[in-house]
Amino acid sequence: MRVALQVNVDHVATLRQARGVNYPDPVQAAMLCELAGADGITIHLREDRRHIVDRDVRVMRQTVGTVLNLEMAATDEMKALALEVKPDMVTLVPEKREERTTEGGLDVVGARERLGAYVSELREAGIPVSMFIDPVPAQIDASVLVGAAIIELHTGDYANARGAAAAAELSKLTEAGAHAGRHHPELRVAAGHGLTVRNVGELVRAVPELEELNIGHALVADAVFVGLETAVQAFRAAIDEGESRR
Ligand code: PXP
Repeated sequence: MRVALQVNVDHVATLRQARGVNYPDPVQAAMLCELAGADGITIHLREDRRHIVDRDVRVMRQTVGTVLNLEMAATDEMKALALEVKPDMVTLVPEKREERTTEGGLDVVGARERLGAYVSELREAGIPVSMFIDPVPAQIDASVLVGAAIIELHTGDYANARGAAAAAELSKLTEAGAHAGRHHPELRVAAGHGLTVRNVGELVRAVPELEELNIGHALVADAVFVGLETAVQAFRAAIDEGESRR
């Protein structure tokens, strides 16, 4: 299996919004990422439109030729947009206005009834839904119960930890992947948040159930220095290297 690399281009839009101009354009970034070998493009339309804006979602629906993954909070506003634009998949994430980035996973256990109805509507429209969750078995089981086709394991704690703490976080991800593989073989397992060329290989090695990754900030940061094509290829190589050690 080749682990899919979905590039999150939000932070190209961050640079654009910093000046309120029309460049750099995340639509162009998405195209270059695809040309460099990305398997999909991820964008997070936040309620405050701090980076990606509605126009980006609509234009990328027309231009992205791989997979368009729309990350969004489970609100009525976002559901209406998703049903209209029909991305290839939707990832539901928790969202707080004041946070700098998505801070924790979605509490699917605590919001099962509401999320079940929400996911159903998207599924009926033919849109597979992914749940961005902490690597906790109960959250995985609840995701399946609400009808998710995919889970995205939050790797932020792993990415932020060092030494023994990082190994402990990695074990949680390994166990979560194994739980999904054992109890929900039909479920696709993804991961993301805080991944870099240095920590992604070890994650891929440690979670053999992992099928796709969503990577944004570090890849766009690298691209500032080496260009998007080289940055995408470096991540691709790091992922492949991890996979070869499984
Ligand atoms: N996956 C999800 C659900 C996210 O919310 C984010 C951040 O927008 C990412 C992946 C990518 O994280 P990073 O930008 O740290 O690579």
